[in-house]
Amino acid sequence: KHGVFTYDPGFLSTAACNSNITFIDGEEGLLYYRGYPIEQLAEHCNFMEVSYLLLHGELPNATQTKEFTDTISGSTMLHDQLSNIFRGFRRDAHPMAVMVGVVGSLSAFYFDAMDIRDAKHREISAHRLLAKVPTIAAWSYKYNLGQPFMYPQNHLNYAENFMHMMFATPCETYVPNPVLAKAFERILILHADHEQNASTSTVRLVGSSGANPFACISAGIASLWGPAHGGANEATLKMLEEIGDVSRIGEFIKRAKDKTDTFRLMGFGHRVYRNMDPRAKIMRTTCHEVLDELGLHDDPMFKLAMELEKIALEDEYFVSRKLYPNVDFYSGIVMRAMGIPNSMFTAIFALARTAGWIAQWSEMISDEEHKIGRPRQLYKGNLRRDLVPMDRR
Ligand code: SDX
Repeated sequence: KHGVFTYDPGFLSTAACNSNITFIDGEEGLLYYRGYPIEQLAEHCNFMEVSYLLLHGELPNATQTKEFTDTISGSTMLHDQLSNIFRGFRRDAHPMAVMVGVVGSLSAFYFDAMDIRDAKHREISAHRLLAKVPTIAAWSYKYNLGQPFMYPQNHLNYAENFMHMMFATPCETYVPNPVLAKAFERILILHADHEQNASTSTVRLVGSSGANPFACISAGIASLWGPAHGGANEATLKMLEEIGDVSRIGEFIKRAKDKTDTFRLMGFGHRVYRNMDPRAKIMRTTCHEVLDELGLHDDPMFKLAMELEKIALEDEYFVSRKLYPNVDFYSGIVMRAMGIPNSMFTAIFALARTAGWIAQWSEMISDEEHKIGRPRQLYKGNLRRDLVPMDRR
């Protein structure tokens, strides 16, 4: 019915693990969560449904969706002493630095369900992380601003709640724009999981030793922060701001092709996709919708990005290497238009990817056959030699 997934022997030897969660076909540019095409999920589902799907393997019915959503909403608050941890950071600390620290510290506050061999404990930790990471992300932004923390409002949906914590202040009522909240929900769905990328592999490797789920997700956040990975959305916008005008695109395309120059076209290329990242297509459409809603269809950044994409996709260097825009190419433009600062782009990527990380962690831990990860190496160092005494060194 679903066709047969066949792998060539060469691929099998490099596979890090088995998984039933996410399937990517890099050649065709396909992405499925539990068999469902990302295009359908992004169009018709909300983030709670997709998080449930990733965790449990099936789309929830109406009752299951309500129960799951209520469970998550009921756990969005942070232990009040956690706010002291935020206050230990410098005000100008990068939100990702704060998230790595505060998410890791959850194991110092929530240790009543830490027996990872117990499925119920695993589920409790998964729910706590899905519920609390948005609050931590939003509070890291408020802390940067010097504004008071805004508490979760559980009558709001997941996306609206995060936007409220990000943008509301105690001085005036804040009502999330439903079009922007829907677009934000779609951004979360697009970033929720992506097979064995660097940060997910980090979560699995840390988790394979039996480390607690909060420590695993903190490690995943640390890995995602890199500009070659989740930090690319922030780096892409920085690049577009540096290019500044369509007249300078040629100069940067030239630099991207120059092997003596470390500059890479941010938001382009991918370890797996040899076709357009399906998420980038959806993100481009979302960009149009958000900019139209905000009356910013002439946004110079978006026009610059589309012109850069057009020129790169006609350039032999990129075409011959099958380098296409990836999920990060447009996401920064959408989030910037929504009023989200560059510094929060990767934090939002981490918020969304928490659903995938925790699903992949649960899948690994629930397999009783799983062993501690132990990658091997090709040793290229010195052969055996004898010690030289200090006076002869
Ligand atoms: C994410 O793994 C995932 O699933 C990640 C992710 C997820 O959801 O978890 O999809 C999220 O991390 C997306 C990628 C975000 N990163 C960026 O946009 C940063 C810019 N991209 C590049 O740094 C690069 O494309 C990587 C890091 C993504 C991939 O690097 P690779 O594996 O070296 O790419 P490759 O093997 O396909 O490169 C082939 C050639 C090389 O040149 P030659 O040796 O053939 O001459 O293409 C070149 C590369 O130097 N190349 C680029 C380029 N990306 C690859 N040249 C210029 N600009 C680029 N962006």
